[in-house]
Amino acid sequence: MPTVTIRPALPSDLPDLSALVATALPELKLVNTTPWSRRLGSGEHWDSNLLLVAVDQQGSLLGTCWADSAIYRDYGCPVPWWCLNVIAVSPVTRGQGLGSRLVDEVIERAQAVGVSSLYGLCVPDVVGFYARQGLSVTAPGARLTSDVAPTDAPDQPLELTAPEDHCWFVTDVGTTPLPRLYLTS
Ligand SMILES: CC(C)(COP(=O)(O)OP(=O)(O)OC[C@H]1O[C@@H](n2cnc3c(N)ncnc32)[C@H](O)[C@@H]1OP(=O)(O)O)[C@@H](O)C(=O)NCCC(=O)NCCS
Repeated sequence: MPTVTIRPALPSDLPDLSALVATALPELKLVNTTPWSRRLGSGEHWDSNLLLVAVDQQGSLLGTCWADSAIYRDYGCPVPWWCLNVIAVSPVTRGQGLGSRLVDEVIERAQAVGVSSLYGLCVPDVVGFYARQGLSVTAPGARLTSDVAPTDAPDQPLELTAPEDHCWFVTDVGTTPLPRLYLTS
């Protein structure tokens, strides 16, 4: 594989980035119809966006990933968890370790800003990729639970249920006793 630099995306990366994600993950309608400019960010805080690109020495895009605090964004629950919403590597670059490097980079940046859990949804076809990175993966349709109650239902722990054709992947990030997400056995 050529020399690769992984860095936060710039506005000038967005046309190639959105084309790569639209091709690699055409089923993500909401992701693909929302402007990527809203997701720019270097993950400088647990409630910031992290939008990374991997580029070769000529600046050509080889891969990208986007993580954010989706539970806070969507439910206002102030928990330091990052959802890895998207990861995509260009077809000609797959199988050479770039996807793993992107996951490692997200985990490193997550640790640096006090994120306590990294999680996301994937189709069963990709389970092996996340398992290979050492993440825990559920069966399709399974739940993640936590030791935090949502603000609109404070008497019960927050539970996230995967659609029947999707699996959760999750890993602890860091070692401090912050709220975490768990697999429900
Ligand atoms: C999933 C994806 C990001 C993996 O990127 P990649 O650069 O090919 O992954 P890597 O080369 O780092 O692979 C790391 C390991 O995972 C394995 N792996 C990769 N994709 C896999 C898959 N779909 N199923 C099972 N194992 C997989 C590799 O064989 C490798 O194992 P090894 O270390 O034993 O050789 C890439 O295939 C892709 O962009 N797919 C389309 C988009 C997508 O499905 N994204 C995920 C859902 S958001």
